[in-house]
Amino acid sequence: MSKRIEAKDLNIYYGKFRAVEGVNMVIEPRSVTAFIGPSGCGKSTVLRTMNRMHEVINGAYVEGKLLLDGEDLYGPGVDPVNVRRQVGMVFQRPNPFPTMSIKENVLAGVHLNNKRVNQATQDELCEKALRGANLWEEVKNRLDLPGSGLSGGQQQRLCIARAIAMQPEVLLMDEPCSALDPISTLAIEDLIQELKENYTIVIVTHNMQQAARVSDRTGFFNIAGTGAPGKLIEIGPTEKIFSKPDQQATEDYITGRFG
Ligand SMILES: Nc1ncnc2c1ncn2[C@@H]1O[C@H](COP(=O)(O)OP(=O)(O)OP(=O)(O)O)[C@@H](O)[C@H]1O
Ligand SMILES: [Mg+2]
Repeated sequence: MSKRIEAKDLNIYYGKFRAVEGVNMVIEPRSVTAFIGPSGCGKSTVLRTMNRMHEVINGAYVEGKLLLDGEDLYGPGVDPVNVRRQVGMVFQRPNPFPTMSIKENVLAGVHLNNKRVNQATQDELCEKALRGANLWEEVKNRLDLPGSGLSGGQQQRLCIARAIAMQPEVLLMDEPCSALDPISTLAIEDLIQELKENYTIVIVTHNMQQAARVSDRTGFFNIAGTGAPGKLIEIGPTEKIFSKPDQQATEDYITGRFG
């Protein structure tokens, strides 16, 4: 488990619009990488290309290479569904399936992929994923009640459990705490620290303290102006990015002297 991601000369388009340009980076396994940068610079766009969720948008496509342990995610014959099994994603707003129970939510992705999993295995997998997401104790007595009945922080952890149940190599998180209170946020941050022992994690966040707290490496994206493509300005150890970045633009952004 846990794989290395590498982007080479990555350009990302929405139809004719080049939203992101020239991304080159390496994301190390068993580590947390944070993406920061102003709104519209392409953080979510880059994240979605990493599990082939970008191309589901009409006219959207990618140039360049994205490698998962050296294998091109966009190579001929690569099945996007298989990519999404290896590279899980957690979205900004917790999105449990409202009509499904907690347990069904956890196993939703597994059911999509797997033919038949017997009841005992299902129960085991469900418990393991919920434990992994640090939610088990809170929900173990109501697994058959709707996932939508949980608090926001619990729903977000439920979505993390759903992603973990797929046993991915990589976990992408797009502002997973932006809708959460400080206590739930800390719970998710603790969880990210635990998960990085087994997964490659990429998290998008607007919260610089959060980036500083949870990540080993930070990538700063920026945009020159409306309509211009977003670019990865620099990526490196989080300590360095927040204390002595190489680029003036990074310094300006992290110190709040921006725009
Ligand atoms: N579905 C889409 N169709 C067309 N353009 C899009 C689409 N989604 C995003 N874009 C454009 O791509 C650019 C990058 O957007 P993206 O959502 O990746 O930015 P972001 O860095 O995640 O911003 P935020 O911090 O606000 O979430 C923006 O100019 C945006 O308008
Ligand atoms: Mg975004």
